[in-house]
Amino acid sequence: MTSSLQSDLKTHQALSLPRRPRRLRRNAALRKMVQEAHLHVEDLIYPLFVTEGENTRVEVPSMPGSYRYTLDLLLAEVKEAAQLGIRAIALFPALPEAKKDATGTESYNPNGLVQRTIRAIKETVPDVVVITDVALDPFSDQGHDGIVSETGEILNDETVEVLVKMAVSQAAAGADMVAPSDMMDGRIGAIREGLDNAGYTNVGILAYSAKYASAYYGPFRDALDSAPKFGDKKTYQMDAANSREALTEIELDIQEGADMVMVKPALAYLDVIQLVRQNTNLPVAAYNVSGEYAMIKAAAEKGWIDEDKIVMETLTSMKRAGADLILTYFAKQVAQFLAK
Ligand code: PBG
Repeated sequence: MTSSLQSDLKTHQALSLPRRPRRLRRNAALRKMVQEAHLHVEDLIYPLFVTEGENTRVEVPSMPGSYRYTLDLLLAEVKEAAQLGIRAIALFPALPEAKKDATGTESYNPNGLVQRTIRAIKETVPDVVVITDVALDPFSDQGHDGIVSETGEILNDETVEVLVKMAVSQAAAGADMVAPSDMMDGRIGAIREGLDNAGYTNVGILAYSAKYASAYYGPFRDALDSAPKFGDKKTYQMDAANSREALTEIELDIQEGADMVMVKPALAYLDVIQLVRQNTNLPVAAYNVSGEYAMIKAAAEKGWIDEDKIVMETLTSMKRAGADLILTYFAKQVAQFLAK
C-alpha cells in the first residue's frame, strides 16, 4: 500500500449504512450460505448420438468433445456417465441415407437402431433413465420433422400417426420416457393415447413444448446429417420473437398429458424458461443446445474464455431462470467439475 493511500484511509469516516449487501459476500462460506440457485448432477440429462457399426466413435466437427458412437462404445459412455452420477440420457440416432424415406418407416422398426440401443442400455445400465427422441427428421429423406406433401407442406395429422407408432415401439423396447421434439399439433395427446392403449401407461412424456425455429441447432444437424433438404422449420417450430405463444403450447401439452415440459434452446430463451416456470407446476427442462455448446467450445479453444467457469455460469443461469432439468452436451464435464 502506498503511504499516501494509507494516510488517506486513516482520515476516512465510515458511512452510516444500515444495509450493506457486501456483508454477505465477504467470504466463500457466507456466499455459499446465501446462494440461491444450485446446479446439481441430478439436474443433468446427457444427449447422446448413436450410429450403426462397431468400435467407432466419430467426433462431430462443430461439437468438439461430442461423438457419434456405435452401440458398443455408447454403452461404455453411458456407464461412465452413470458412474459420474448422471441419471438420464437423451438418445438421438444418426442413420445412413439408405434407411431414410418419405414417411420415416425405419423409426418404428422393432429392430431399428434406436430400439436396439434402448434394449442394450436397459440390459447393461438399467438404472439410467432412457429418454428417446420422437420426431421424423433423423428418419426422413427430406430432413423435416414431419411428412412432406407433394407441394412441400409439412403434414400434421399424417405425421402424428407415425409419431405414435415410433413412441410405442420405443416404449416396447424399454424407453422410460419419450420426448416428442417435432412440434406437430396434437401429438402429445395422440402419443399418450397410443402408449396407454398399448399398455405403456407408465412410460412418461417429456414434451418439447416451446421449441423455437433456431439457428442454434446447426451443429446438431451436422451430427445427424439431418438438415432439412429444403426450406426451414418455421411452419412448425416457434418464432424467436414470441413468448406468450410458449404459454399456449405449454398449456396444450399439459392438457394432452405431458409429464414434463421443455423450453429449447435455453440460453437465448431464459425469459421463456422463467415464464413457463411461473405457469406450471410440472418439471421444466431446458435444452442447452448444440450451437450454445459450439460457441463456448470455440471461444475456449481460442483461449478467449475460461471454459469450466463459463459452462457453470451458463448452466446456473438456466437454473436461476427456473429450469429443473438441463439437457446438455457438457453433462460429463459438469459432473466432473461438481465432484471436485
Ligand atoms: C429435431 C431435433 C433438433 C434438436 C433436437 N431434436 C434439431 C431440429 O429441430 O432441427 C436440436 C438439438 C441441438 O441443437 O442440440 N427433432
